[in-house]
Amino acid sequence: MIERLEFATASEEDRRDLHEVVSAWAVENKPGKEPPSYDACAALWSHRDELGFEPARFVVAREAGRIIGYAQVQVSVAAANAHLALVTVVVLPSRRRRGVGTALLRGVPALLDGRTVIESWSVFRGSPAEHFAAARGFRVVTSMTSQRLEGFSLPHVGAPPAGYRLVTWKGSAPDEFVGACADALNSITDAPFGETTLDAARNTVEGVRAAEAASSAAGKERWVVLLLHDDAPAGVTVVERQGVDPTVAVQLHTAVLPAHRGKGLGRLIKARMLHNLTGVTKVLTRTSTANEPMLRLNRSLGFEDDYVYFAVQAKTADLHP
Ligand SMILES: CC(C)(COP(=O)(O)OP(=O)(O)OC[C@H]1O[C@@H](n2cnc3c(N)ncnc32)[C@H](O)[C@@H]1OP(=O)(O)O)[C@@H](O)C(=O)NCCC(=O)NCCS
Repeated sequence: MIERLEFATASEEDRRDLHEVVSAWAVENKPGKEPPSYDACAALWSHRDELGFEPARFVVAREAGRIIGYAQVQVSVAAANAHLALVTVVVLPSRRRRGVGTALLRGVPALLDGRTVIESWSVFRGSPAEHFAAARGFRVVTSMTSQRLEGFSLPHVGAPPAGYRLVTWKGSAPDEFVGACADALNSITDAPFGETTLDAARNTVEGVRAAEAASSAAGKERWVVLLLHDDAPAGVTVVERQGVDPTVAVQLHTAVLPAHRGKGLGRLIKARMLHNLTGVTKVLTRTSTANEPMLRLNRSLGFEDDYVYFAVQAKTADLHP
């Protein structure tokens, strides 16, 4: 039986079941790994994300009343991603290969509100999902490498070269820098992200303010290091400390504007950022597998490669469930 479910109005038992399903996925093939906490999942499912994607809508599969799998759909309020829905399908390991994933995917169009493209960003290399996605008509559009930095010692941060200065803040951007911050974030457009249609580079002052509001509503802390050259934006890096586990931070966007590349400024801003992260013992980040310069830069700061995953895509009209 497939039915719709809203996390906000779901019963306590259904919420806990959703958490159990995602937890089983998180630890599969990773003995000893801690599953995500219930609070961390509830925060993710209840808040708009960084790119304006709304809290997840669900369809769930049940057996004897209990949830054994779900498909989650997120649509964005940002005009740049008005065509796109992010979809994740998860089935309890003990209930796989019985058509449950396919049945859940069949329930997805009802949640799409007219979105014409579907992408899933959590297809781990070598996992059943790789085969499932191919069997259901999705194609791989990009490959990402996840890296982690744990129990790190702080890197040396040199002074910025002549003409450059660093500005850093926690929480909301000061009004005088918010425009420069949006402009610097937009220079990420030329980072390699394969053929995804996800647009992460239409930042405006309003967009930055919305991301800040989403972050603080989810109990996160957001740090920014902005690099200026003669008061014009030259680079930026953004990190969010997780609300539910303040020892973990996620390194989000880093960009250096084309005119300022090749001078070690990317490393400078990221190294400077690490000095800001009081109380953080683990930093996670994701970079396109094709972006060797950024992967290498992260390794030079002590990050280790963790795993590779793919983004897969299908047109809604071409789905053959
Ligand atoms: C991906 C996933 C949702 C598939 O669920 P499922 O209920 O097993 O999928 P189905 O039974 O509908 O499988 C449909 C087809 O996909 C392919 N497939 C699914 N799992 C496969 C596997 N382990 N190996 C090879 N092919 C597989 C097959 O072609 C299968 O048809 P068949 O069983 O008739 O051969 C499930 O493996 C899962 O929850 N994985 C963890 C979560 C995840 O990685 N999600 C990815 C993000 S979308």
